[in-house]
Amino acid sequence: MGNSGFHSEPYDDGTLTKLDIFELYAQEWIPVFTAKPNPLYPEVHIFDFFCGPGTDSKGNAGSPLRILRQLRNYLEKPVAGWNKVRIVVHLFDLSREKILQLSEILTAADWKIPGVTLDVRSLEFTEALKQCDPILTDRGAAKLLIIDQFGVDGVTAPVFRQLIGYPTADFIFFLSSSTLNRFRNHTAIKIKIDELEDSYDVHRAAFAWFKKLAPIASGVFLGQFSIKKRSNIYGLIFGSRNCKGILKFLRVAWEIDSIGGEANFDIERENLHPDTPTLPFEEMRPKKIQAFETQLREGIRSGVLKSESDLIRFCIEAGMTCKFCAPVIRQLKAEKIITCSFRTPNPDNYDIPRLITLNEPKT
Ligand SMILES: C[S@@+](CC[C@H](N)C(=O)[O-])C[C@H]1O[C@@H](n2cnc3c(N)ncnc32)[C@H](O)[C@@H]1O
Repeated sequence: MGNSGFHSEPYDDGTLTKLDIFELYAQEWIPVFTAKPNPLYPEVHIFDFFCGPGTDSKGNAGSPLRILRQLRNYLEKPVAGWNKVRIVVHLFDLSREKILQLSEILTAADWKIPGVTLDVRSLEFTEALKQCDPILTDRGAAKLLIIDQFGVDGVTAPVFRQLIGYPTADFIFFLSSSTLNRFRNHTAIKIKIDELEDSYDVHRAAFAWFKKLAPIASGVFLGQFSIKKRSNIYGLIFGSRNCKGILKFLRVAWEIDSIGGEANFDIERENLHPDTPTLPFEEMRPKKIQAFETQLREGIRSGVLKSESDLIRFCIEAGMTCKFCAPVIRQLKAEKIITCSFRTPNPDNYDIPRLITLNEPKT
C-alpha cells in the first residue's frame, strides 16, 4: 500500500503498536506537569506534527485523538495543578483535507476538554518547527513532540540536533528503518547505516546512527523500539534530557515487549512466548536480561558502578528499567560483596545518589 492510502485502510498491527506507545507515553507524561499543586512549568505543549485526519477507515483513533483521550481521562480524577497550567495541543499535518476531517471530528462535545487549548492547522513539518521555535526553545514550557512521519525524510541530522537541543522537551519519532537498508546506496538517503548481518537489526542500526549525533555531553538520553509490519521494519526513537522521561519510555516499551523491551517481534530470534510459555516466565531468562545481569554484576564488583546514578545510566544505556537491577543487588548483598541502602535505584535520587560500598574480602 502506498502512503496516500494510509488513512483509507484500517491501521495494521504495527501501526497500532506505534499508536499505543505514543498514547501510553502521553499517559505517563501528562501527570508529571499537571498533578502537582505547584506545577513545575506554567505552560505545557503537546505537538503532533504529522497528526493525520484523526482516525483510520474504521474509525479507530489515531494519534491526535489518543493524546486528547489521555488528557480527558486524566481530568476525570481531581487534578491539583490542572488549572494552574496553560495546556496547548498543537495538531499539524501538511494535508489540508486531513486537517479539515480532523477539525470536523473535534467539533464533538467529547473533544472539548476544559483547560485545553487546541491549535489545529495545516502546516508542513519544517515550517511548523520554525513557527513554533519560540515555544520549542522556551525553558519555561514543558513540551512533548510526536513526529509520526512517513519514510525517513522529516528527521534529518540537523532536525535531530534541533530536537536534542530543545530544553524541557521529550520527543518520539517514527522511522521507516528498512528504507535505509534497501536504498542504502541512493544519494537521497542521508542516514547511512552500517552493513547488517541480520535484517532484524535495521532499526537498531538506525538508532546507532542517531546516537552518534548525540554525544554524552549533550545530556540527552535516547531509547528505541523496533516495529515489524509485514516484511518491513520500522521503529521509534525517543529522546529526553531527563532520566525520568527516558525511564518512563522504557517502562512503556517493556509493557509492550516483556521479553526484551525493544520490539513487537522476536528480534533476538529466541522463540520465547510470554503468553504461552513452555517454562515459567521467571525461568525463561531472555538473553537480554541474562546479559544485563551479568554485565551489571561485573560492573558493580569491579567498582566501575559505584552509585545509584551509575546504575541508572547503565540501565538506560542497556534499554532496561531500574527494576531489573533488583535481583543482582539482592544477590551481591546476600553474598556480602556490597553494602548499599537501596534495593532498586530510584531516579528521584539521580542528582544526589546513594552509594554502593564494595566490602573488603575476608582473609
Ligand atoms: C504516518 S501518517 C500519520 C498518522 C497519524 N499520526 C495517525 O495516527 O493517524 C503521516 C502524515 O504525515 C502527513 N505529512 C506528510 N508529509 C508531511 C510534512 N512534510 N509535514 C507535515 N505532515 C506531513 C501526511 O498527510 C500523513 O497524514
